[in-house]
Amino acid sequence: MAIIEVNNLTYRYTKKKYALKDVSFKIERGEFVSIVGHNGSGKSTLGKLLCGLLQTKHGEILIDGIKLSDDTIDEVRQKIGIVFQNPDNQFVGVTVKNDIAFGLENRNIDVDEMEKRIKKYATIVGMDEFLDKNPENLSGGQKQRVAIASVLAMETDILIFDEATSMIDPLGVKEVTNAIKSLKEEKTIIYITHNLDETLMGDRMIVLKNGEIVLDEKIDNAIKQKDILTNSNLEPLEQMELIELVNKNNLNRKEEVEKVLWQSAYQK
Ligand SMILES: Nc1ncnc2c1ncn2[C@@H]1O[C@H](COP(=O)(O)OP(=O)(O)OP(=O)(O)O)[C@@H](O)[C@H]1O
Ligand SMILES: [Mg+2]
Repeated sequence: MAIIEVNNLTYRYTKKKYALKDVSFKIERGEFVSIVGHNGSGKSTLGKLLCGLLQTKHGEILIDGIKLSDDTIDEVRQKIGIVFQNPDNQFVGVTVKNDIAFGLENRNIDVDEMEKRIKKYATIVGMDEFLDKNPENLSGGQKQRVAIASVLAMETDILIFDEATSMIDPLGVKEVTNAIKSLKEEKTIIYITHNLDETLMGDRMIVLKNGEIVLDEKIDNAIKQKDILTNSNLEPLEQMELIELVNKNNLNRKEEVEKVLWQSAYQK
């Protein structure tokens, strides 16, 4: 049984415009699925619907076989955690430690276990030295790290990351995404991003364009669909472009390849 099943999901904030239109897909337990798409393509709306922060009006969502509704929302929230793109709205505690503890306290997790998890997940995101600091005084990237630790600490089966690393510096992104990657198989992961490089750590990619799915394939195939990606306002991987360049110029000598690669670097 799929851990996530979405059938004919349509969502509108206003009458005029569809944020999501007839979206259907299934995600198996342990899958790592990236969701990409241009600004306004419906990614965050989908994330919010999946964890019940927006109410499904047309279509249905099943989480671990449970149909999402007002009656099941509490049960579903035990299974699914989400980190948003803007960490500012996510803080409730006076210290980083309080903040990570908050969700755990709500679930009656005992104190020893709580301490253990706070230390473990703060360390994973590189924020263990900040546990006694006030979250308001952290930088954007540090806030995002804490928000990620808070969600990881809940140890839910399903994790959704909605551009959760957008403010973290490149080396930090590597650390955090490595931590996320290490959860692969153990967790079901939905990773929302604009950056196609990041999708390579997943098993599969779903592309949204104007609220509709225009591509849903295993990552190796999906990443090569240059036309669909470009038409969806996504920038294809640099490697894709270089391979094309080599083919287009019919290059087979090392010197020729080097020359064309340098030329293309200067043209950028
Ligand atoms: N609260 C809201 N009220 C009205 N319209 C909204 C609201 N939130 C989003 N929308 C609209 O719904 C559509 C989808 O927005 P959504 O935030 O899901 O896109 P996104 O793919 O997450 O974009 P981004 O890459 O910028 O985060 C957009 O057209 C947006 O303008
Ligand atoms: Mg968004």
